[in-house]
Amino acid sequence: MLSISDASIVSCKIKKMVKFPMRHYIFKLNLVFAFCLFYLWPAFAQEKINDPHSFAEPTKVIVKHLDLNISVDFNKKNLTGKASWTIENNAASNQIIFDTRDLAIVKVTLNEKEIPAKFAWGKKDTFLGKALVIFITPETKSVNIYYFTSPDAVALQWLSPQQTSDKTSPFLFTQSQAILARSWLPCQDSPGIRFTYEADVSVPPDLLALMSASNPTQKNVNGRYHFVMDQPIPSYLMALAVGSIEFESLSKNTGVYAEPSMLKKVAWEFADIPKMISAAENLYGPYRWERYDVLVLPPSFPFGGMENPRLTFATPTVIAGDRSLVSLVAHELAHSWSGNLVTNATWDDFWLNEGFTVYFERRIDENLYGKDFTDMEWSLGIDDLTGEIADLGDTSRDTRLKLNLAGRDPDDGMTGIAYEKGALLLRCVEEKIGREKFDIFLKNYFSTYAFQSMTTEKFLTYLDKKLILPNSEVFKHFDYRSWIYGEGLPKECRPIFSIRFQEVDEEIERWKTGVAPGELTTEKWSTQEWLHFLKGMPEQLSTKQMLLLDHHFHFTTSQNSEIADSWYLLAIKNWYSDAFPAMEQFLTSVGRRKFLTPLYEEMMKTELGKKLALQIYKKARPNYHSVSTGTIDEVLDWKNNSFKSPY
Ligand code: BES
Ligand code: ZN
Repeated sequence: MLSISDASIVSCKIKKMVKFPMRHYIFKLNLVFAFCLFYLWPAFAQEKINDPHSFAEPTKVIVKHLDLNISVDFNKKNLTGKASWTIENNAASNQIIFDTRDLAIVKVTLNEKEIPAKFAWGKKDTFLGKALVIFITPETKSVNIYYFTSPDAVALQWLSPQQTSDKTSPFLFTQSQAILARSWLPCQDSPGIRFTYEADVSVPPDLLALMSASNPTQKNVNGRYHFVMDQPIPSYLMALAVGSIEFESLSKNTGVYAEPSMLKKVAWEFADIPKMISAAENLYGPYRWERYDVLVLPPSFPFGGMENPRLTFATPTVIAGDRSLVSLVAHELAHSWSGNLVTNATWDDFWLNEGFTVYFERRIDENLYGKDFTDMEWSLGIDDLTGEIADLGDTSRDTRLKLNLAGRDPDDGMTGIAYEKGALLLRCVEEKIGREKFDIFLKNYFSTYAFQSMTTEKFLTYLDKKLILPNSEVFKHFDYRSWIYGEGLPKECRPIFSIRFQEVDEEIERWKTGVAPGELTTEKWSTQEWLHFLKGMPEQLSTKQMLLLDHHFHFTTSQNSEIADSWYLLAIKNWYSDAFPAMEQFLTSVGRRKFLTPLYEEMMKTELGKKLALQIYKKARPNYHSVSTGTIDEVLDWKNNSFKSPY
């Protein structure tokens, strides 16, 4: 192995060649440049994508297929094994670059013959990790990387039995998006690079292993599992989960996985999945991934859901017992088109994944649950968006759809803007052109670019060509570029009316005039109405008002995570301490970042609240995934405050 100083490696995107003297290099470069300019440039210019969050140089050497062979060690909290990458060397290059973060490389060999190879490291970056440069020849067909992960690998969460729902067995899951895959697999970790994979995974014999691939439905006595993913996917969709997991089928091609005690509830809650798939296929073309299953993870999962192909990972906090939160599944399913099939080329184009998916999700919702239900989702979405823009400031560049995340942790810039502003843009286009034409456009978009990556600019070219120019009259005053490259919320965005929320507003008004909570008409309300009710409460509430609301509606002990979270926010704002023990229980068991962040942020606004936040976080932090601790550490200035905390 070479040391950092031996090789002139990678400083972000400026890389030098090591093998040739400078003069030779410049001559060669000139020739290549001239060739590109005259022959390849037009095609090349479109496809060459600069991803500021990957060290890889895919235009030179790119991975095509992965053969992964790893074993999972719960005692050491690591994965050990070999990643064999089949590569394509398009520039007769002498090196291939992979992304890594906290990986230990044991050795590297080339081709099936396993010829020992040299490798070198780039400079370490806080969130990009380190480039792994492997020296190859223009003829090299594959590289074999023997490695093991660190117990602190940011993508991995190792849970003790105590941290699971059933409390019987340990659990491991990965979260690779956005750039965390490199902490459990040496890979070209850019969403614009796709590969197929096969994997052999060894786990303790009493546990089941699942991946974003073909999956077993039953445990295997020897703990060895084989996975195949024939469709090319980007690295952020690589996923692995290991635990005491069981399967229940929902239909021929769909099913749910969960810990045994959760399985029945999960199967009931998600019974609409087959209908969701039919609705999605009717809208935007065939489902291209063969099976669709959902795995419900232990409560520390940091997201609501993650669209790992064939196997969505989901939080148990959507199991509300009344199917009211299943649009999360519609969302992750919709990613099977927007995201997994047509993929944002870089994280700056994140809205192409999430904005399209929220729009698509709501079309599925409308199909299954009707317009009145979906209007509530749109309305809640616009509330979130307004709040997010207010938080960021309406001149913040992070409120643009096209982001500029170079030099930053992509996670910091990937806010709710991409979701709701992106979805509203598509809704606006739909309103102008009409649903029928817009659906044809989207269906063609997904089939034309299936299994490819997409930049914002490429999308706009397609939009111009297929929709805007042929209908220029309709779009005459529509400045869609200002949605994408401009800040804040464009004026032409029309307010969304929800009939069901109007009824809630009427009840809020009655309550404000002194009608007791018990007298309000709330019997038919679902989660969404309750959320609107709680969000519609005045900024300041007296303890008496809080007590009365709680007494009638039992918010503090609500088993509905969305309602409980919203209520705890009010409890902090109005220092309603009766709710704090339940809130502490919630914060120490649930790791979903969306729930945690507003609560900790609100507590940090006062001295008393700050004490409470630090006290709870100290207990809760060991249960959170690195994605959540990354955010909450900042909210609490944990590095400084953890020492000062008297608790
Ligand atoms: N792909 C995202 C989750 C994600 C985004 C992970 C960015 C890492 C970086 C997923 O599809 C998602 O959007 N989840 C939402 C749920 C949804 C219903 C809005 C979530 O987790 O809250
Ligand atoms: Zn999403």
